[in-house]
Amino acid sequence: MTQQATAPVVRRVDARHRYEILVGGERAGLTAYRDRDGRRVFFHTEIDDAYAGQGLAAILVQQALTDVRASGMRIVPVCPYVAKFLKKHDEFADITDPVTPEVLQWLDGVLGR
Ligand SMILES: CC(C)(COP(=O)(O)OP(=O)(O)OC[C@H]1O[C@@H](n2cnc3c(N)ncnc32)[C@H](O)[C@@H]1OP(=O)(O)O)[C@@H](O)C(=O)NCCC(=O)NCCS
Repeated sequence: MTQQATAPVVRRVDARHRYEILVGGERAGLTAYRDRDGRRVFFHTEIDDAYAGQGLAAILVQQALTDVRASGMRIVPVCPYVAKFLKKHDEFADITDPVTPEVLQWLDGVLGR
């Protein structure tokens, strides 16, 4: 018996301000953002328990950040996972901006928290 692995697919869902990763057509996780002044502020990443530990978060974030670059925008990594990813992948350093108290305050307002 052969098992055919299905390559994960990452898509941007503008209406929900997030990128989703699909495995076999099923949503396995997401990374959420809000945009501000040409910056995409990533604040939360999650992979469903059923898909954990397979490197899906890395695929999702890699493709999301590549899309940010293609859009001519910059990255602000509030999400700890995205921040950690960026420490290991310096190819995005030129389009990454620091997380400031002002951005955090703005984000709290946007998210109503
Ligand atoms: C964090 C999470 C998205 C990782 O998903 P995953 O597909 O299992 O992750 P991967 O297999 O691609 O990578 C695992 C890496 O995530 C890191 N990680 C796990 N939890 C983390 C967290 N809370 N913050 C930052 N990094 C985390 C691990 O240290 C590991 O790093 P390594 O690759 O350097 O060893 C997933 O565990 C999750 O949904 N957790 C609950 C929500 C959460 O804590 N999100 C992060 C902060 S918003």
